[in-house]
Amino acid sequence: EIAQITLDGPAASGKSSAAKGLAKELNAYFVNTGDMYRALTSVVIAKGIDPETQADAVEAILPEQDIRYVSGEGLDLLLHINGELAEASQVRSPEVAAKVSLVAKIPAVRKWLVKRQREAAELGLIVMEGRDIGTVVFPEAKFKFYVSASPMVRAQRRLAQEGEVSEGATVEKVAAEIAKRDEMDMNRAVSPLKPAEDAVMVDTSDLSLEAVIAMMAERVKK
Ligand code: CDP
Repeated sequence: EIAQITLDGPAASGKSSAAKGLAKELNAYFVNTGDMYRALTSVVIAKGIDPETQADAVEAILPEQDIRYVSGEGLDLLLHINGELAEASQVRSPEVAAKVSLVAKIPAVRKWLVKRQREAAELGLIVMEGRDIGTVVFPEAKFKFYVSASPMVRAQRRLAQEGEVSEGATVEKVAAEIAKRDEMDMNRAVSPLKPAEDAVMVDTSDLSLEAVIAMMAERVKK
């Protein structure tokens, strides 16, 4: 019996769309763990905490926070932040994107969120995407994918996603933002972004979303 399918990879690599499509194809739940890190980051910002210099303050607020996916209609899971539905404008804002990797490198934060991610898997077959899902969250998962694309393709894709970047954004600015985040994610001390040894590498630079989903679904189904 398969329980978890993991997708990891750098920023704007097409993981979320691919994971969502694959989950639909397999009648599985879909969990975007980046949105959990982003949700916590939005709380940290709202409280006026600087994650770069006040990691202790970030850690101190964790016991009062409730960030979790709750069941919606059918297989849809809805991200709630302290009992309220997370808004895309809240978690996908440029302010959050600029700080999220600083929050995500705090060991206590990772421990706290990984626990919640493992709990989500109790629902049933799950497709989970992030940075450390195949390496840390579910090292025993039977199907692991590492999804990447060239930096330019990733910047262009992110730019094409409405509401994710600020007004006046250019492909150069977006490329710089995601490169900075990748650098931090790949070089942090705890759970750095890297492919699991047994992950299937998927370069989506020249592939359509449909082709990526079909390729992964075929591997899982056979
Ligand atoms: O959607 P995008 O590719 O921009 O990133 P995301 O998946 O929303 O993740 C946002 C950030 O959260 C990443 O840059 C990481 O710093 C952090 N993250 C992480 O550390 N571990 C995960 N499993 C998922 C996200």
